[in-house]
Amino acid sequence: MKPITLTQYLIEQQRLGGHVTSELRLLIQTVAQACIAIGHAVNRGALAGVLGGAGSDNVQGEAQKKLDVISNDILIEANEWGGHLAAMVSEEMEHPHLMPAGYPTGPYLLLVDPLDGSSNIDVNVSIGTIFSVLPCPAAGAPVTAASFLQPGSNQVAAGFAVYGPSTMLVLTVGNGTVSFTLDRDMGTFVLTAPAVKINEDTGEFAINMSNQRHWTAPIRRYIDDCLAGKTGPRGKDFNMRWVASMVADVYRIISRGGIFMYPADQRYKEGRLRLMYEANPMAMVIEQAGGAATDGVRRILDIEPSALHQRIGVVLGSKNEVAQVAQYHQ
Ligand code: AHG
Ligand code: MN
Ligand code: MN
Repeated sequence: MKPITLTQYLIEQQRLGGHVTSELRLLIQTVAQACIAIGHAVNRGALAGVLGGAGSDNVQGEAQKKLDVISNDILIEANEWGGHLAAMVSEEMEHPHLMPAGYPTGPYLLLVDPLDGSSNIDVNVSIGTIFSVLPCPAAGAPVTAASFLQPGSNQVAAGFAVYGPSTMLVLTVGNGTVSFTLDRDMGTFVLTAPAVKINEDTGEFAINMSNQRHWTAPIRRYIDDCLAGKTGPRGKDFNMRWVASMVADVYRIISRGGIFMYPADQRYKEGRLRLMYEANPMAMVIEQAGGAATDGVRRILDIEPSALHQRIGVVLGSKNEVAQVAQYHQ
């Protein structure tokens, strides 16, 4: 069978109706192209002088790595002139980035975590880019931060790239979740998983165990019961993985199931991960692949955001396991 490229996949989705318009197709292709460029910089590493700190802080007060800044710049430059976007929001920028005067604007809002897994850049572990696409509420009206404050259920597309042994692109346009592998010789993403399905049950969890002393009682009990294994209340052994790059942990979950947790705790009262450009896009990808995503109790995609850089607790992955965590909260 002839390989299906990202372009072909998107054209077919457009023909099927649904969310995909010509502008959305251009937007996704542009983001994918930017991911190829970011992946190239990641791959060149020390040869391109892109490792190490940038010497600046972002809006959340986190020290930026050179690649955080480079990736943000690549995404802006790629998306500014296409006419498909009204504005962009990024982990690396305090305020929305409007399209420069002189360029046409379009009906969509793009939200990005340009480089996810920053602590893994300098140690050669998989990192990635996360993106979310929302409709721009009032076409023509001025775009403000408030325009972005829509629940994740409004997303028309979401996905992420992983820069690992292979460069992968995971995507949903609301018609299931699919994934593509970058063919470096051709410079194109090729569809390699046309219908991602997450196992409903799992025996593998991902959590940063070093935060244990900060956890709330339900999370503590849930993990204790997993650790008790076969002879404990869950009656089975659990394995643990924690890459510390959400993109890599979520990629593993869509590949072989599992549960990923970064819950709100005594230290991160609102959670650690960002709702708009980490939790929401991942929640859409996971739900479209048959999994579930909550803040422990509430469905992530239903949450009404109140701020661009708002944080949220995240529990996502195999459906029945995410439901278990909710039960521990009752
Ligand atoms: P970012 O690099 O965009 O700030 O995100 C890092 C996130 C996420 O990828 C990962 O799951 C988590 O932070 C890692 O947290 P720990 O440092 O607690 O392991
Ligand atoms: Mn991140
Ligand atoms: Mn980031």
